[in-house]
Amino acid sequence: MKPFKLCIVGAGQFGVFFIPLFRSHPGISEVSLCESDPERLAKTSRDHGVRRVFASMGEVLRSDVDAVAIFTQRHSHAPLALQALRSGKHVYCAVPAATTLEELEELIEAVKSTGLTYMMGETSHYYGATMFCREKWESGAFGDFVYGEGEYCHDMAHGFYSAFRYSGGPDWKKVASYPPMLYPTHSIAMVLSVTGARMTSVSCLGFKDRSDDGIFREEVSEWNNAFSNQTALFRTSDGGMARINEFRRIGLSSKARSVRLSLYGTKAGFEEQSGMAAWVTHEGTIEDVEARIRCGAAEPTPRHQALIEANPALQHDFVTDYAEVHQKARLRLPAAFSKLHTGHEGSHHFLVDDFVIAVLHDTLPPVHIWQAARYNAPGIVAHQSSLRDGEHMAIPDLGWPVE
Ligand SMILES: NC(=O)c1ccc[n+]([C@@H]2O[C@H](COP(=O)([O-])OP(=O)(O)OC[C@H]3O[C@@H](n4cnc5c(N)ncnc54)[C@H](O)[C@@H]3O)[C@@H](O)[C@H]2O)c1
Repeated sequence: MKPFKLCIVGAGQFGVFFIPLFRSHPGISEVSLCESDPERLAKTSRDHGVRRVFASMGEVLRSDVDAVAIFTQRHSHAPLALQALRSGKHVYCAVPAATTLEELEELIEAVKSTGLTYMMGETSHYYGATMFCREKWESGAFGDFVYGEGEYCHDMAHGFYSAFRYSGGPDWKKVASYPPMLYPTHSIAMVLSVTGARMTSVSCLGFKDRSDDGIFREEVSEWNNAFSNQTALFRTSDGGMARINEFRRIGLSSKARSVRLSLYGTKAGFEEQSGMAAWVTHEGTIEDVEARIRCGAAEPTPRHQALIEANPALQHDFVTDYAEVHQKARLRLPAAFSKLHTGHEGSHHFLVDDFVIAVLHDTLPPVHIWQAARYNAPGIVAHQSSLRDGEHMAIPDLGWPVE
């Protein structure tokens, strides 16, 4: 395929960071913008010099745009992605792919029947810790997989109130109560993208929220959700175990690491906490690898400066440089990216490139729909388990692409 036209759907806090990236990629001929809030659409298109704009997804789907990149609120991802695929558009979608197992099945079916590219933009696939562990795993240094811990610990007070208010209107608490285990992909992907296995069963417990901010309340929540924290223990298809934490009310500093991975094999392990990461071996070595996996800071582009000033919490996550562990992989990226900061631990550039390459060459991106389902479905079942106080439940195998 020749360079193609892409529309970014959702000009919120995250999507706008991808405008310059898609635009700089030589595989993209045009970046347009779709946003349902007219003021935001006008301002963002002006600030970023976007010429073609759409007020609704319907307009995009009727246009000659070849692909959409969906950055709307999390519960809207699957319905929008399905509409796009069924209208003949390739789809890049921010996480999570879906909120229900039925949506995941429908997405898989739509990808199979249309042959179009679908990619979930899982940032943790390229986090320093994940990259480091994948390299060790591929060399056999871990031995057999025994146990993994993936966690996403993000207190509501650390940027989430403002993020949900930004687009949620007066009813923002209704969706801010999104069950933590329905947003499991960062934590689960860190473990599974290393080992290549899938989660087969789960037992999960929930923590009933006690805060008086009125968010995690059954009567307020779109999902009748009262849990602000959930912990799940999974069986993995390679005979191992994984513990996943999704915490939204947790006594951790905003400067602490919010996404963390620990992984143990029969020969060696990787341990990560705030301020430390170590590679430990059975032979007794403990290597401090913190400096190798941590990204340096970067300056936001002038076009993103106002957004960062309005919400300084974004700076730390949305604007980063690379880590040492990314340096080899980044050689494949378009030269134009070297002038643009990346974000979420060095991942943004890789994700954009993965999608563009997959569409241009009609190949599967690393996080295709079947892989996305493996990162997403375990959390959906875990949430059901937590509603039954930890009942052990099977996780369906949603399949794998036939090469
Ligand atoms: N590390 C990560 O992977 C990561 C980080 C941040 C956000 N995210 C995900 O990215 C998504 C976007 O996050 P955000 O913080 O930018 O959200 P946001 O609320 O700031 O922005 C969403 C935007 O989409 C617009 N929108 C909603 N429905 C629309 C529709 N049908 N058509 C056109 N526009 C529509 C809203 O008006 C809003 O401007 C979320 O789902 C979030 O989970 C992922």
